[in-house]
Amino acid sequence: MTSTNGEEPLGALAGTRVVLGVTGGIAAYKAVDVCRRLVDAGAFVSPVLTAAATRFVGIATFSALGSEPAATELFDAADPIPHTRLGQRADLVVVAPATARLIGEYAAGIARDLLGAILLATKAPVLLCPAMHTEMWAHPAVQENLAVLERRGVAVLAPTSGRLAGGDVGLGRLAEPADIAAAAAALLAGRGIGRDLAGRRILVTAGGTREPIDAVRYLANRSSGRQGYAIAEAAVARGARVCLVTASELTPPAGTEVVRVSSAAELAVAVREHAPSADAVVMAAAVADFRPVRAVAGKLAKRDGIPELALEPTEDVLAELGANRRPGQVLVGFAAEVATSEEDLEARALRKLVEKRVDLVVANDVGRPNVGFGHETNAVSIVAGPGAVTRVPLAAKRTIADAILDAVAERLASRADRGDEQ
Ligand code: CTP
Repeated sequence: MTSTNGEEPLGALAGTRVVLGVTGGIAAYKAVDVCRRLVDAGAFVSPVLTAAATRFVGIATFSALGSEPAATELFDAADPIPHTRLGQRADLVVVAPATARLIGEYAAGIARDLLGAILLATKAPVLLCPAMHTEMWAHPAVQENLAVLERRGVAVLAPTSGRLAGGDVGLGRLAEPADIAAAAAALLAGRGIGRDLAGRRILVTAGGTREPIDAVRYLANRSSGRQGYAIAEAAVARGARVCLVTASELTPPAGTEVVRVSSAAELAVAVREHAPSADAVVMAAAVADFRPVRAVAGKLAKRDGIPELALEPTEDVLAELGANRRPGQVLVGFAAEVATSEEDLEARALRKLVEKRVDLVVANDVGRPNVGFGHETNAVSIVAGPGAVTRVPLAAKRTIADAILDAVAERLASRADRGDEQ
């Protein structure tokens, strides 16, 4: 999982030396709370502010809360080499908030100020907590810099969605102080908080396709696209590069490469184009199984009588992926069923898993209240084989998304270990 839940015991912080780096963003005020939580957990905290940070928060506040006076300058009169001392002595360096500039300089090895020097001088684990505008967060330069740092072992606690500076709303909000403190403790305890899909490419399909009958009518289904969008959003937060092929009209989550489609045939074309480069494909779209043989040009009129609607099957995109997958690729299908019991639901999902030759089938019983199409919540069984079932009880679609991605990440990691990636 990307973020810890805030209830993680903070015991590992007791008696440790933590450098708390604060950079110049509107979220800098939240670093005050982070500082207090680290100190309360027994850490010896040295706050280090960049010059820009001091425009957002007072250095005196950090000096009062921290375990020693806050520092900003590379060459303090009293102590000419604080970067060596602080960096060498630290058990952990936390940067919250971390701006795009800090991330870029750190990735490039530029020590422009005291905090930059500490980051290059330290051998301690480093936790970056980025906060910035959605567009900046989504920019490939920022994502590539983070990927470089993660490859070097730096931990990144992804931002969340919410209110940003200037009244904007979106992905890029600093993680909650409680989660930052918990992530710091987890790192000190030797547990990873890493973005487990960093560097992975994930293709997600979402929404229900529309099969044209004439110029104004179509055959459709009740899928809203919300579950697929939640998967795409969660995958971005976990570090993946996400291509979202969507037949939904909802606004796609930030940070995804969006391909809009309408019909099953268009979806098939988009998936065929993007699947070969994907490490995992999650087919959350409700793809029509049948379409009118011919869409009538123009509009069918009542006076012409009731039309005969001849249907033909659409191509089964998921089955095609299963038959042609590249080694190491993880394939996930969905099954929307009206089942008589959980066992019945899972038996149906297992049949689809075998028939379509995929790794996981996420099954939901759309006959149950608040489950599946059109709802904010879902309840699923993730079927990986006979007897290999994870049941995820009714929860927000984002929670379901993370449970699905846990299973995907586990398979990607074990395939990488076995070396069957290309
Ligand atoms: N799917 C697909 N191409 C289709 C139809 C479905 O790729 N033409 C994918 C969906 O995205 C989903 C899974 O296959 O991941 C659903 O399987 P499907 O057999 O379509 O389920 P149902 O429509 O429920 O099938 P049935 O009516 O046979 O139960």
